[in-house]
Amino acid sequence: MKALVYHGPGQRGWDTIDDPTIIDPTDAIVRIDTSTICGTDLHILKGDVPETTPGTVLGHEAVGTVQEVGAGVSTVAPGDRVLMSCVSSCGRCRYCKEGRYGQCLGGGGWIFGHLINGLQAEYARVPFAEHSVYKVPDQLTDEQVLFLADILPTSYEVGVLNGMVRPGDTVAIVGAGPIGLAAILTARLYTPGLIVAIDLADSRLQSARRFGADTTINNGSEDAVAKVMELTDGLGADVAFEAVGVPQTFELATELIRPGGRVANIGVHGRSVELHLEKLWIRDVTITTGLVDTFSIPQLMRLIVSGRLDPSLFATHRFALGETMSAYDTFADAANTGALKVVLQGTQASRRAVDAERVAAVA
Ligand SMILES: NC(=O)c1ccc[n+]([C@@H]2O[C@H](COP(=O)([O-])OP(=O)(O)OC[C@H]3O[C@@H](n4cnc5c(N)ncnc54)[C@H](O)[C@@H]3O)[C@@H](O)[C@H]2O)c1
Ligand SMILES: [Zn+2]
Ligand SMILES: [Zn+2]
Repeated sequence: MKALVYHGPGQRGWDTIDDPTIIDPTDAIVRIDTSTICGTDLHILKGDVPETTPGTVLGHEAVGTVQEVGAGVSTVAPGDRVLMSCVSSCGRCRYCKEGRYGQCLGGGGWIFGHLINGLQAEYARVPFAEHSVYKVPDQLTDEQVLFLADILPTSYEVGVLNGMVRPGDTVAIVGAGPIGLAAILTARLYTPGLIVAIDLADSRLQSARRFGADTTINNGSEDAVAKVMELTDGLGADVAFEAVGVPQTFELATELIRPGGRVANIGVHGRSVELHLEKLWIRDVTITTGLVDTFSIPQLMRLIVSGRLDPSLFATHRFALGETMSAYDTFADAANTGALKVVLQGTQASRRAVDAERVAAVA
């Protein structure tokens, strides 16, 4: 089969490798119909994730069709269309039993495209299939559910739920990449009073307005703290999300909130960050951190079915799976291409898309 293989910092290839096979009875083999690329894949390619060894297939978000299941798998069967989550669950350990799959002690957690071969490939071995894949309702397209694999549950769980967004809240979101934009969409489920998006890139702020931000601030040219204070009668935001992952934006998030406010950190930090307890201790603040668990996939999927959550705005570019190398170039050059998420379509997925268009044309 063909797959996108990491060959060490700065190097990747669309290589021919052995087809995956069932190793454990809890495995499934899935044909990848639709996949995508994440900012984390770019981090791996920069060499920022040393646990990922050269030779690993990248990718941790996909929709596919089950081809084969191990003897221990009875809840999914060949032919089923399934969403694969960026986080796998053994289903048996203490954390999995609490729904905290990201912290799985039994070999799950974030493993695809990190510790084992991932999902930017024609086929994948999916461990713990019973606990780690989600059947896709017939009425939804692959593309409608694809972003449930990572960005939507990340922003919802680590941002909106940890930050306890409530109706009427002023929500400030630092960083308007796919994660910040998914935070806008999922925060809106709670009817905040005001959503403020902050980013250095005007193109990202434009997207933020399309996704539902009420106000945007370019913190390269404006004083974000002063502007948020002005919008909130000098108090500050009820909740701030950090959706970048650098020290400045974490510090900014802590400066944006009112006394009694909440900072939900979503960004992945590679460097130490200063925590200004000398200013914060007296302000009754709450700061949360988290790795996504994806326990909210079924809930978010129901909202997509009912039309209350529409992730279609994320898909800015589409490529055939065989063009994954060029898709990486487009995704990595987001400043010029405007890419948010690039959709990689296997032949089955593109055939289904064409069929859907035909049906729409006839109707
Ligand atoms: N906690 C989790 O489980 C989890 C899961 C997935 C991703 N993440 C992390 O979430 C973060 C965001 O992911 P993404 O895919 O949206 O990243 P991204 O790089 O696409 O977007 C980041 C955005 O931040 C903006 N930005 C950069 N520096 C800034 C600054 N100083 N001030 C304001 N804006 C600034 C950029 O212009 C960009 O729009 C990353 O750190 C990613 O690793 C965390
Ligand atoms: Zn990801
Ligand atoms: Zn587990």
